[in-house]
Amino acid sequence: MISYAEYLECTNCQKTYDYITPYRTCNDCGKVLYVRYDIDKAKVNFDRNILSQRINSMWRYFEMMPIKNEANIVSLGEGMTPLLHAPNLGKSLNCSQIYIKDEGCNPTGSFKARGLSAAVSRAKELGLSKLTMPSAGNAGGALSSYCARGNMEAHVFMPKDAPEANQRESKDAGANLTLIDGLISDAGKISRENAQKNGLFDVSTLQEPYRAEGKKTMGYEIAEQLDWKTPDVIIYPTGGGTGLIGIWKAFKEMYELGWIDKPKTKMICVQSSGCAPMVRAFESGSNSAEMWENAQTFASGIRVPAAIGDYLILEAIRESNGTALTVTDEEMIDCIQIIASHEGIYPAPEGAATLAALKHLLNSKIINPDEKIILMNTGNAYKYLDMWAP
Ligand SMILES: Cc1ncc(COP(=O)(O)O)c(C=O)c1O
Repeated sequence: MISYAEYLECTNCQKTYDYITPYRTCNDCGKVLYVRYDIDKAKVNFDRNILSQRINSMWRYFEMMPIKNEANIVSLGEGMTPLLHAPNLGKSLNCSQIYIKDEGCNPTGSFKARGLSAAVSRAKELGLSKLTMPSAGNAGGALSSYCARGNMEAHVFMPKDAPEANQRESKDAGANLTLIDGLISDAGKISRENAQKNGLFDVSTLQEPYRAEGKKTMGYEIAEQLDWKTPDVIIYPTGGGTGLIGIWKAFKEMYELGWIDKPKTKMICVQSSGCAPMVRAFESGSNSAEMWENAQTFASGIRVPAAIGDYLILEAIRESNGTALTVTDEEMIDCIQIIASHEGIYPAPEGAATLAALKHLLNSKIINPDEKIILMNTGNAYKYLDMWAP
């Protein structure tokens, strides 16, 4: 198979970069780099009908993935997670078309597997073998596991109150784990210093171009699973926002490939009322988000006080006619139990936040009950059992 990845492009100043050097962010403006593909060639040579014969993982979209040589793929079988119709929840909310994209089925128990499979694979391809990152929890576990699989070295910096499962899986997979008395933003500073001092490649969220490419496959899968139609609404629990912007990037790519009609999906960002920098920025009409002071929520994956991709998240929400809203930790706890008892899916608190958000959006009539709605359950509750008492 041939990947049509061609060059990197700054999402802010549009400066372009070659595809052989390990760039992280834009040298001129420091903003996020995206992988760009030769869409004209892909359009001719990558027929979506071939997919039914392909591997049942996110790597089935290889032509639109960032790895040039298949031999460099470091995989644990990530992706192609179920898109489950949720009729019992639908009945209780008077909606007929609620679906849950169950990312808890991924290796390492969360959607972080997608981004880290892509980033670790590309690092291997570029000859980088020592990787570092700050993590709220799940990404650190995934980096550690994919580095173990790829015979690479992982350095993870995590808040000391991150879920125990994330700490233990990182250590057991052989990573160098450092626990920090602070938030992911504090861990980020230490990871960057460590990268400079010890010659490590920092794979922090959106500070290298490849994790977003793994996460975008959620968008490809949703379209494929809906028979090449995009849904009316996607509700996404937003921390660094890689998944939300990745799905939006995928929809745009598939439109350019001629695989789908122009997407009309409203991209909805949900955050915790204890840490909501993107919601505040969206409501104030700003194109960037201020750092959120004293971030607090037990949903560790969305306890992210500042996001380097803030402008991309806000752009995707606005371009798609979506919105942004907060929910409380208490609502998330209730919704974990509601999803588990109605549908047998045991969601991470972040995934449960999407149901809490849906209830608000139905009440305020921002979403209409007839719409096709996807709740992104980004992880598995088993990884958080020490974080709340039912
Ligand atoms: C379970 C879970 N959901 C959501 C998020 C937020 O993801 P993103 O950075 O794509 O916004 C995270 C990040 O750690 C997470 O672990």
